[in-house]
Amino acid sequence: MSDDEWNAIARRYRRFAASEAHDVSPLYEQLALKIAESTALLAFLQTLPDERRQPNLFLAAIRDAAGGILTPDDLEPSVRRFATRIRDIMVTRTTQTNEPARCAVLLPALARLQQPLALLEIGASAGLCLLPDRYGYDYGRHRIAPPSDSAPVFNCVANAATPLPHRQPDIAWRCGLDLNPLDVKSPTDMAWLETLVWPGQEQRAVNLHAAIEVARTDPPTIRQGNLLTDLARVLADAPENIPRVVFHTAVLAYIPSQADRDAFAQAMLASDAIWISNEAPSVFPQFAKDAPPPPGVRHFLLAMNGKPLAWTDPHGRSIDWFAA
Ligand SMILES: C[S@@+](CC[C@H](N)C(=O)[O-])C[C@H]1O[C@@H](n2cnc3c(N)ncnc32)[C@H](O)[C@@H]1O
Repeated sequence: MSDDEWNAIARRYRRFAASEAHDVSPLYEQLALKIAESTALLAFLQTLPDERRQPNLFLAAIRDAAGGILTPDDLEPSVRRFATRIRDIMVTRTTQTNEPARCAVLLPALARLQQPLALLEIGASAGLCLLPDRYGYDYGRHRIAPPSDSAPVFNCVANAATPLPHRQPDIAWRCGLDLNPLDVKSPTDMAWLETLVWPGQEQRAVNLHAAIEVARTDPPTIRQGNLLTDLARVLADAPENIPRVVFHTAVLAYIPSQADRDAFAQAMLASDAIWISNEAPSVFPQFAKDAPPPPGVRHFLLAMNGKPLAWTDPHGRSIDWFAA
């Protein structure tokens, strides 16, 4: 491996430790720093295609193959022992983290619309964000009771300006679209989703598990397809006599070309569907420039039809509404 390539992988892991894992998962921070210093682990990563060297994917694959959470000292021996299985996971799986708590930040936007709604989620993963009507919400000053005892209740800190709804939205039709739909009834698919929750985020893991159980009672339909080419086909199935909402959270960053993202945005603005986007601000800089500064690092921008509404925590734990 050239020094440049070697250094680039090490830098990527150091950056992940500092800007993503720090304050969120101290163990992942330590593991990523250990990988950045390890000749053996960098050499392992170098055998994979560039797009398969992601820290999140490597760490989840190690945990999956080794059957649990590791310490920095376990890393090298575990990767040596389970190398074939780890490589297999890293080339067949992707980071399809499905975070149902993101429904808490979508709810105020959905509540502005005339109900009932037809919901189409692109990049739906297992479709857990397609079920905002089946969870409970606790916004601190205001709680929406879960519809069943076993449903999760998502805590979300909302600023005073957030127009909090009083009930779950009324969903008359729902469907997802994903490159690789995950099946809530498949134990291996769901074990992978649970492995993607970082150590130190136990409440997320508990809520994810509860949301999967809710989804299993009546799984949402997820169609296989690419958001750049297959959206119109799926949207054509949605009823036309109610508002049709196309939404996505933590998806468009997976489209590497800004020109493709912009073409998608143009298509959404030209369509008669309502478009809700909850993404990192760098995904659509043309919309982010109209938003006030974010309240902190690592925030997503919630926008409706390209109009910024709020800054949101990427895992749905807070919403800072600023739109009129
Ligand atoms: C990080 S997950 C987010 C899942 C869900 N939206 C959430 O917020 O919990 C990103 C999902 O987008 C899907 N995806 C990425 N590129 C896509 C594309 N071009 N078309 C359709 N789905 C895509 C991935 O397969 C993955 O399931």
